Amino acid sequence: MSEEFGRTYWEERYHGHAAVRGRRPNPQLVAEAGDLPPGTALDAGCGEGADAVWLASRGWRVTAVDIAATALARAREHAESLGADLTSRIDWVQADLTSWTPAEERFDLVSTHYVHLSASREALFGRLAASVAPGGTLLIVGHHPSDPHTTLSHGPSPAVHFTAEEVAAGLDPGRWDIAVAEARSRSATAPDGHEMIMHDAVVRARRRP
Ligand SMILES: C[S@@+](CC[C@H](N)C(=O)[O-])C[C@H]1O[C@@H](n2cnc3c(N)ncnc32)[C@H](O)[C@@H]1O
Repeated sequence: MSEEFGRTYWEERYHGHAAVRGRRPNPQLVAEAGDLPPGTALDAGCGEGADAVWLASRGWRVTAVDIAATALARAREHAESLGADLTSRIDWVQADLTSWTPAEERFDLVSTHYVHLSASREALFGRLAASVAPGGTLLIVGHHPSDPHTTLSHGPSPAVHFTAEEVAAGLDPGRWDIAVAEARSRSATAPDGHEMIMHDAVVRARRRP
C-alpha cells in the first residue's frame, strides 16, 4: 500500500470531518450505471457508502470494501437508517485493496471511484477487471491530472491522478469493449460548502461474454 495514503491517512481524514462527501452518489456512477439492470456489484473503496447505498436502492446486491473503519461505520449506519431491505443487500467489508482479491468473474458491475494508490494501482485495476463477470461492466473513475482542486491539495501526484487513456490501455482489447474513456468535468460541493469544478478520468468497459 502507498504509505502516503495508507489506513492512518484515511482514518484521520474521516475522523477530522463529520461527513467527508455527503450522501449523494457520484455523478459518474449515476451516468454510467443508471441504465444497467441490477445484479451483483463491487464498490472498491466505498468510503461513506453513498454509491453502495444508491446501487442497493436500485436493486443491486453490493459488496462494499474500504480500508477505513470509520467510513464503513458511517456507511453502515446510513444504510440501516434506510431500512432492513436495503441493508440486507449490502455486505460491508473492511479490507486493504492492495492485498484483498475479489473472486474472478464474480460481479456484474465493478465500480471504483477516487481510490488513491501509486505503485499498486495497475495491479489493483487488474484484479478488479478480473472480477467482472462475462458481459459485466467495469467502471473506473479518478481525478484527472488537470483537476484543479486535487492538484492544489496534493500537487500533481501519481497516487491521485491518472488519465482514462492510461487505464483503458491496461485492458486487453480481446476481452474488453471500451464504452467510455474520457476526461469529464463536474461540479461538486467542497466540505466548506463552496461550489467547485472537478475534472475526472472516466473509464467504462464491458467484458465480452
Ligand atoms: C477519496 S475516498 C473516495 C470514497 C468513495 N469512493 C467516494 O467516491 O466518495 C477514497 C477511499 O478509498 C479508501 N481506500 C484508500 N486506499 C484503500 C485501500 N488500500 N484499501 C481499501 N480502501 C482504500 C479510503 O479509505 C477512502 O474511503
